[in-house]
Parts: sequence; structure tokens; C-alpha cells
Amino acid sequence: MTSDSDRLRERVRRSLDSQKRPTVTVLSSLLAAHDELGYLPEEAIEEVAAYAEASINDVWGVASFYTNFRFTPPAGRIVEVCWGPTCHLAGATDVLLRVQRELGLTGEGETADNRVTLKYNTCLGACSQAPVMSVDHHLKGRVTAETAGEAVGALMER
Ligand code: FES
Repeated sequence: MTSDSDRLRERVRRSLDSQKRPTVTVLSSLLAAHDELGYLPEEAIEEVAAYAEASINDVWGVASFYTNFRFTPPAGRIVEVCWGPTCHLAGATDVLLRVQRELGLTGEGETADNRVTLKYNTCLGACSQAPVMSVDHHLKGRVTAETAGEAVGALMER
């Protein structure tokens, strides 16, 4: 069974691998991980250290120098919908359209009240459970437009 921590690591590793060489540095790797997750958990620091062949202390040193990095999940709620190939084939488009409708959005971004961020993802690392979405980084697999809509509706009521 894959844990949330393993999934975070997998997402970080993918974001690191997608960087264009030869410009890969500790900083570019931290930025890639931060873009992917919206913050830098311990797992991201460790993965960047392994990837960039730097010590964890060095990576913390770079990360803490830049004030734009967050080390805790963003305060607002975050909904991610995977539209990667496997999820796409399993019906992600319907899920995405329904989630957007619930949030009053036509694409990625913040809701009008700034409480919820919608992000698209190209693979949430749980393809066997496609279509997949996540709410505040908790994965929900085999969602339908209805169950996704309910999850988002419940989030908006809180
Ligand atoms: S393609 Fe959606 S979880 Fe992998």
C-alpha cells in the first residue's frame, strides 16, 4: 500500500526529472518541487538532496534563504484533478468539468472567495485508481462527476 508520503515523494521525483538539463541546480529543483506541491515538505527536501547530490543541510540552507518558499501546505483548500492519460481515458474530463462548475471556475485558479484553489495535475501517482482527484492532498480514487462534485460541494460548505 502506497502512503501519502510515498506519493508526495513520487510527485517530487517526477517534477525533478522533468527539469531541463543542464540548468539543474538545488534551487531549480526546489522550485520544481514547490511548483508541483505548493510547498516544500520534508520529503521534498530529502528528494532534492538525493537528486542534486547535495546534503540535506545544504538544501535546507538554500530553501530557507528564499522567502517565497512555503514549508507548510497553503492555508486555503486545494483541489487537484488529474487529467493525465490514464485518468483521461477513465473519464477525467467529466470530473474536471463538474469540479469547475462547483467551484465557479473555467480553468485552474482560485475561487472568487479565495478559499479554494483548483489545480490540474498530469499524474497524481495513483493511476490504478483512475480517475483520481485530491482534496487537500488526500487522494480520492475512482471518482465520478457526481462523487467529485459532492466532495467539492462539501468543501465549499465548510
Ligand atoms: S494519470 Fe491520473 S493518477 Fe496517473
